[in-house]
Amino acid sequence: MMMHATLSALFLGALLTVSLPASAVNLTISCGTVGQERDFCEQATSAWAKETGHQVTLATPPKRSNERFFQYLIDLGQGDSRIDVYQIDIIWTGLMAKHFVDLKQYLSQADIEQNFPAIVANNTVDGHLVGMPWFTDVGLMYYRKDLLEKYGLSAPKDWSELIDTALYIQTQERKAGRAEMWGYVFQGAAYEGLSCNALEWIAAYDGGTVVDMEGAITIDNPQAILAIARAASWIDTVAPPQVLSFNEEDAYQMFQSGNAVFMRNWPFAWALLNAKDSPVATKIGALTLPQGGAKGFPASVLGGWQLAVSKYSKHPEVAADLVRYLTSETVQKQRAIGGAYPPTIMRLYDDPEILAATPFLAKMRPAMQDAVARPVPQTGTDYMAVTTHFWEAVHKVLQGQGTATSNLQILENRLRHVKFRGGW
Ligand code: GLC
Repeated sequence: MMMHATLSALFLGALLTVSLPASAVNLTISCGTVGQERDFCEQATSAWAKETGHQVTLATPPKRSNERFFQYLIDLGQGDSRIDVYQIDIIWTGLMAKHFVDLKQYLSQADIEQNFPAIVANNTVDGHLVGMPWFTDVGLMYYRKDLLEKYGLSAPKDWSELIDTALYIQTQERKAGRAEMWGYVFQGAAYEGLSCNALEWIAAYDGGTVVDMEGAITIDNPQAILAIARAASWIDTVAPPQVLSFNEEDAYQMFQSGNAVFMRNWPFAWALLNAKDSPVATKIGALTLPQGGAKGFPASVLGGWQLAVSKYSKHPEVAADLVRYLTSETVQKQRAIGGAYPPTIMRLYDDPEILAATPFLAKMRPAMQDAVARPVPQTGTDYMAVTTHFWEAVHKVLQGQGTATSNLQILENRLRHVKFRGGW
């Protein structure tokens, strides 16, 4: 028995030496963990490992984008080499650029140029490509097609219509015995997700983007106050009180259980909501977000994720090859079909298989061009301070701690201090 075990170990050892490249390495990647992100990451990294003979370990970062940001910043600040490849938010490229290698050294121009030029430009800092575009994101309004049909209502075009429709269906459904039904769910916890939602409300009412393109602080204005005050009036009337602690997953879980009429979320929710075992499969539609009043316009925030190679990685070239593979057409297509992750490779928006699986992607190309960007370029390294003050102020109003008028005035003052110190 002993002899047998030793022999098989030797045999296995021989096999491994044959199948692994001379310099097989073990890389660590930190992918997202929201929805199916981890599963897709695991699938594609295993495929690459099989093809190349290298190994890949998946790190487990915090779920919320802003928590991940601070953890990464601490690790990278210490020159930590444990993680080779980072999945980074579209808003971080400028904030973390100095910790990543220039991917142009390792990837072909064709690989890079097949992506949306605006995303490549966002990821290029001082001429260095610090992240390869992986998937893009834009805020979507999901709705229960079946319930709108049941009550003979059409999909709303502006926020008032949406809330009226949500409230009407919520009331009717509750009368019919569905006591758990709510009209609208979104990301209302105090984190980056709330900044995205609140920016959409404000921009839809033509209330600006907190800080304008020239760097002027604009948040304390009547349209922004109107938008935030309206959102506060939804809590416990058309939106459940727990929405104040909802992130992306909490919102889609509630909508998926059948207990909400409308939901704001990112595209990934589409695939989960339409999965075979989902109670709302085939009962839902997805639109871009509605416009504000007569003065406003439809406003969806632009999100999205990139893959970056750490400067402290011991194997930057191999890590860049993993990035090349994960951001390739093959992998982006698998992710778009199976997970509704919107590709960054432009030609994939004409791919019939992708459009059949995720029909709303056909409308996403124009929606992305019109999408609202967070005020990152104008605030530079202060963006995290700006967004933290923003979501804190909005969260207070939603919780009923002070009015929109007073909180946005305080916010404007806080941002002035940030600007004064930051010099933008
Ligand atoms: C999504 C977006 C990202 C945003 C985050 C907020 O993941 O892609 O850009 O920061 O949501 O929760």
